[in-house]
Amino acid sequence: MRTVYVNGDYLPETEAKVSIFDRGFLMADGVYEVTSVLDGKLIDFDGHAVRLQRSLDELDMANPISKEDLLEVHRELVRLNGIEEGMIYLQITRGAPSDRDFAFPDPETPQTIVLFTQNKPGLADNPAAKKGMKVISIEDIRWGRRDIKTVQLLYPSMGKMMAKKAGVDDAWMVQDGFVTEGTSNNAYIVKGNKIITREASPDILKGITRTAVLRFAQEAQMEVEERNFTIEEAREADEAFITSASTFVMPVVEIDGVALGDGTPGHVAPRLREIYLDESRKAAV
Ligand code: PDD
Repeated sequence: MRTVYVNGDYLPETEAKVSIFDRGFLMADGVYEVTSVLDGKLIDFDGHAVRLQRSLDELDMANPISKEDLLEVHRELVRLNGIEEGMIYLQITRGAPSDRDFAFPDPETPQTIVLFTQNKPGLADNPAAKKGMKVISIEDIRWGRRDIKTVQLLYPSMGKMMAKKAGVDDAWMVQDGFVTEGTSNNAYIVKGNKIITREASPDILKGITRTAVLRFAQEAQMEVEERNFTIEEAREADEAFITSASTFVMPVVEIDGVALGDGTPGHVAPRLREIYLDESRKAAV
């Protein structure tokens, strides 16, 4: 049975409890992070900790844990659960006041902090990366602060179900004709040696994997262009891919039923995946 972390305690998952008045549960008033684990070590812990602090600041929410303690909890959960490859999920909410109220509770209200592991052996060697994934496009009807990593994930969940229903792997969301991102990942297209991805703004979550991959791409002399692209441009691209903490770099081989190139992962995405995995393993903590 998994050992999870709740408000300072390490507990068996069946004994971990959160109040029914928790604002994460009632109002989606919470933020989260997902950090991947390779070789039993944390990938880009620092990046996730910095973004967590930013999400909290943007929502005027306090941070109940120091960065040092947070690292310690991550490591302890990896150790207690024997995780070699997988993810660690972290969620912080504004806590559980004594009743439901739209107004934020007294800042003295203890916050809720929960972490748990997800064991995913074979995450790095995922066969899906060799085949590539298929996506459909859907309208992006989420709220306007997607740069904050909140737990309001209903529309992304619905998007994932639309993709499933269409017999594909994921959905790319489109706003005013331009691709924003995937349901839980950043979206890229490739033209020749050029990697194109939407620039960071409140319209998308600025992925920690995105930041790393764009840096590695530039170091490998690939050209990076941060700009909007339409779904039509994407369908005509040489290649496409996504990035996230749980998929790293994953080629996209079909958009709305249209195969990209010859319908197999091209050269750029698989190469970036390899570089990302190599470099991330080296820098893991
Ligand atoms: N999702 N965009 C969205 C909407 C996301 O939910 C995510 C991450 C990303 C990529 O961010 P990063 O590279 O920091 O993982 C972009 C996580 C993995 C999830 O919800 O499980």
